[in-house]
Amino acid sequence: MSQPSTLADVTGIDEEAVAHAPQVRSVYVYEAPVRAWHWVNALAITVLAVTGYFIGSPLHSVPGEASEHYVMGYMRFVHFAAGYVLAVALLARAYWAFVGNHHAHELFLLPLTKAAYWREVRAMLAWYLFLRPRPNQYVGHNPMARLAMFFGFLLITLFMIATGFALYGEGAQEGSWAHTAFTSWVIPLFGGNSQTVHTWHHLGMWGLVIFAILHIYAAIREDIMGRQSMVSTMISGYRTFKD
Ligand code: HEM
Ligand code: HEM
Repeated sequence: MSQPSTLADVTGIDEEAVAHAPQVRSVYVYEAPVRAWHWVNALAITVLAVTGYFIGSPLHSVPGEASEHYVMGYMRFVHFAAGYVLAVALLARAYWAFVGNHHAHELFLLPLTKAAYWREVRAMLAWYLFLRPRPNQYVGHNPMARLAMFFGFLLITLFMIATGFALYGEGAQEGSWAHTAFTSWVIPLFGGNSQTVHTWHHLGMWGLVIFAILHIYAAIREDIMGRQSMVSTMISGYRTFKD
């Protein structure tokens, strides 16, 4: 038997329920530039991974006039444009680490020498492995996430920027800024063989794909099972605590 509908059922307004709702506490963590950078960066990496994959395994050529079917040309153009976006955005993000709040530099600095840091990494690892029934509450990134973000994201991304612009500078030729700043020293580092640079640039993509899969899994898992908000924190900036 369905109950007779109250005004709250009809309008959705229920002041009584709101008055008795528990208070939720929240802390402002990620400032607007950090949030904007996160989503621009996630989009740039997605575009780079898709176009990069096709640069490595090109589509079959289409019959007809090449200039009317410039598919791989556009693919490379979009890859290079997204590459510039990725690099400039990371520079802006690094600047914000100096002028933003204290959570803004968590991505760049790891307190590797502090025992308390490693204690929390172990605690978080145990929680992820279902060996601990309850996680701690973290305001910024949890210490385990910082480890993944530094090694699984930041270092690989810097490597992708250096090798990407080194390959780009080969096409842009000697005298171009990319050749001077990257090609001149990156290609010799790989024994002067640009095919080796292609291979490592390609492998780096799979490193970032693995990071992204684990990262999105962990963000959604923590949102559901953890003691604080996650995905909405990267949208609104506020971390809300469930208990
Ligand atoms: C649907 C896709 C994504 C979701 C839902 C998501 C979610 C999040 C969340 C919730 C955080 C904050 C975690 C915390 O508070 O500890 C975060 C941070 C971060 N995410 Fe993502 N993310 C996504 C895609 C990506 C991708 C594709 C990358 C790069 C490969 C990425 C790289 C990062 C980095 C580097 C941070 C640290 C931000 C900083 O400290 O500036 N994310 N992400
Ligand atoms: C997360 C970032 C990036 C990813 C995932 C990515 C991915 C890839 C992949 C998979 C390839 C094909 C490699 C091969 O098999 O030969 C490639 C090629 C290339 N990428 Fe990237 N890349 C990234 C960043 C960059 C950046 C920042 C630049 C700088 C402009 C760049 C420039 C290039 C160039 C010039 C090529 C060779 C194009 C060609 O030979 O036609 N990439 N990229």
